[in-house]
Amino acid sequence: LPVPSVQAMVAATGGADVPLRYLRPAEAVTGDGEAQIPIIDHRRLLLELDRRGEESARLHSACQDWGFFQLINHTVPDDVMEGMKASIQEFFRLPAETKKRFTQELGQLEGYGQLFVVSEDQKLDWADMLYLYTQPPESRNKKFWPDQPANFRSMLDRYSGAVKEITDTLLATMSENLGLKQEVIADRCVGGVQSVRMNYYPPCAQADKVIGFSPHSDADLLTLVLQVNHVQGLQIKRNGSWFPVKPVEGALIVNIGDIFEIFTNGWYRSIEHRAVVNPKEERLSVAAFHSPNIHAMIGPLKEITAREGGEEEAYKTLDHENFMRLFFATKLEGKSFLDR
Ligand code: SIN
Ligand code: FE2
Repeated sequence: LPVPSVQAMVAATGGADVPLRYLRPAEAVTGDGEAQIPIIDHRRLLLELDRRGEESARLHSACQDWGFFQLINHTVPDDVMEGMKASIQEFFRLPAETKKRFTQELGQLEGYGQLFVVSEDQKLDWADMLYLYTQPPESRNKKFWPDQPANFRSMLDRYSGAVKEITDTLLATMSENLGLKQEVIADRCVGGVQSVRMNYYPPCAQADKVIGFSPHSDADLLTLVLQVNHVQGLQIKRNGSWFPVKPVEGALIVNIGDIFEIFTNGWYRSIEHRAVVNPKEERLSVAAFHSPNIHAMIGPLKEITAREGGEEEAYKTLDHENFMRLFFATKLEGKSFLDR
């Protein structure tokens, strides 16, 4: 079922009235604590083997104990970071009629719109999005790629490539940290895909009663998130409580997805997270998802489970297509289908 644009609704009503479909019980929105997720220095990770050891070890703890970290000193050029942020802000500032030219087709994720809902009484997220397939380049569907602002396409192209490169370097180090050859995870992801979800969260007068992005864990292998403006909103669930993530200027926020959890047989876990909304200011973010290709088998890596001391497989193996079907069929709130 299609869902209206929240941005257009706020523009039309002034945002004072929040329709029932967006309202959540107050206890569903409040956060609890303060925490700072680990900060990992990409430049140090890229040093020669004998000099990167300490940073690799910190990356391993971050993956094992948090499932989330911020990557600083990374290789996305400054002009691409700034250009991407500006382009996406400008896109959401375009008139509703212009944005509508890139609207999703019914039942499809790609394009401008919302996550579709499966029932009339499902609660809705206080957000609009633009979701695009970005890698490999052949997967791009140009009719959904905005031609305004003028540099949007070239910026997304450069950003997408730079973020994929970082992901490849992280996967190599993570492989090594799991006691595997550097290429083991990459080999599972030959022909891997990247999609980018640009999130727009309008301000909400009843911000304490709505959610921008419902609690979930990501289905992919690894997600890299760019915080676009200065407004915070991302929260992670840790030891049963919600903690806000404070983005470091210029950093990328990285998180482990469900496929990584399955590959490592639960050694690295995907973490439930959500986005809350600001009462006065809009918030924007850009999430880049990295997954194996659609024909890859998704299951615990034999290189981990079958080696000496390896544990029994805790997840069944499915092909990627059926894995995604199961993901969408069972995942309405939180981290449902992986919960054991
Ligand atoms: C998400 O990708 O789960 C939310 C990202 C964000 O808005 O910070
Ligand atoms: Fe997410």
